[in-house]
This record gives sequence, structure tokens and C-alpha cells, in this order.
Amino acid sequence: MTDTHVHPPTSSDAGPRGDLCIRTLAMPADTNANGDIFGGWLLSQMDVGGGVFASKVAKSRTVTVAIEAMNFRKAVYVGDLVSVYANLVRTGRTSLTVHLEAWALRRRELQPILVTDGNFTYVSIDDQGRPQAIRRDDPPIAT
Ligand SMILES: CC(C)(COP(=O)(O)OP(=O)(O)OC[C@H]1O[C@@H](n2cnc3c(N)ncnc32)[C@H](O)[C@@H]1OP(=O)(O)O)[C@@H](O)C(=O)NCCC(=O)NCCS
Repeated sequence: MTDTHVHPPTSSDAGPRGDLCIRTLAMPADTNANGDIFGGWLLSQMDVGGGVFASKVAKSRTVTVAIEAMNFRKAVYVGDLVSVYANLVRTGRTSLTVHLEAWALRRRELQPILVTDGNFTYVSIDDQGRPQAIRRDDPPIAT
């Protein structure tokens, strides 16, 4: 059994916790037909941020292999400042699972709100794109 649970998933009631892995502004080009921010854009931001975090942990290239337990809790609007936080929840032999939370800070608000969260699994890969064992003992990559 190689799996280890490093951090429990964060509570939706708590404020942001974990590593800030991406922060960006929701723009008009990211809207859907209703004028709200497109869910796929948010998912993409989370995947990018989670990939940066996963590569830092795995100390290698990584690819996304699965996305689970996604919750779209609140709409995101143009002008919201979106921040994605990562918590490592599982490390396997070649894969790791990261709980990602996206928090939106709306204009004229002081507190961010949890808009989306989910579990993203990444696989450490070699130069040929094949799964490779995660090197647990090496120091983390500085970012
Ligand atoms: C990720 C990829 C390299 C895995 O290759 P594979 O031959 O399936 O490798 P394995 O079967 O040895 O699995 C590798 C790891 O992924 C895990 N895994 C595979 N499929 C999974 C799934 N659906 N959910 C969760 N974990 C999964 C395995 O459990 C294993 O983890 P472990 O070593 O920690 O136990 C391959 O599937 C791939 O290249 N997929 C495309 C990835 C990609 O392009 N992502 C971007 C999408 S746009």
C-alpha cells in the first residue's frame, strides 16, 4: 500500500486554505450565453493551477488523468478575482490527488466566496509521457 493521505479535504465553510496556485481576473471573453463566467473556463483555471502544484510535488511533468467530485457552488461574474488553492489529499505510486478550491472575490466585497471545488488526479510522467514513480525523498521544486 503506497497511498498516503497528507491533508484532509478542506471544509467549504472555512476560508481558503492550502497553496495558492493561480490567481486571475474573470474577463468578458470568458462568459457563457447568459453573461456569466463559463464553467469550462473555471475548470481550466483549476486544472492549470493544480498541474503547477502537482508538478511541484512530483518534481516532474504531470498530466491530468481524472477530475472527480466537482461542485459548482456559486456563479462567477466578470470582474471577480478568482484564486485557486491546492491541498494534497493522496499520493500513490505514480499519481497524486489534489483537492482544489476556487474562491472568487467580487468587486466591492471584502471576503472571497467558495465557488467551485473538486478532486483532480495527476500522473507523474517521463519524457516519453509514460507514468513514472513519484520521487518522495527529493526536495520540492522551488517556484
Ligand atoms: C495518464 C496516463 C499517462 C496514464 O497512463 P496509464 O497507462 O493509464 O497508466 P497506469 O494504468 O499505470 O496508471 C497510472 C496511475 O494513474 C492512475 N489512474 C489511471 N486512471 C485513473 C483514473 N481514471 N482515475 C484515477 N486514477 C487513475 C492509476 O491508478 C495509477 O496511479 P498509481 O501509480 O498512483 O497507483 C495516460 O492515461 C494518459 O496519457 N492520459 C492522457 C492524459 C492527458 O492528456 N490529460 C490531459 C487531458 S486534456
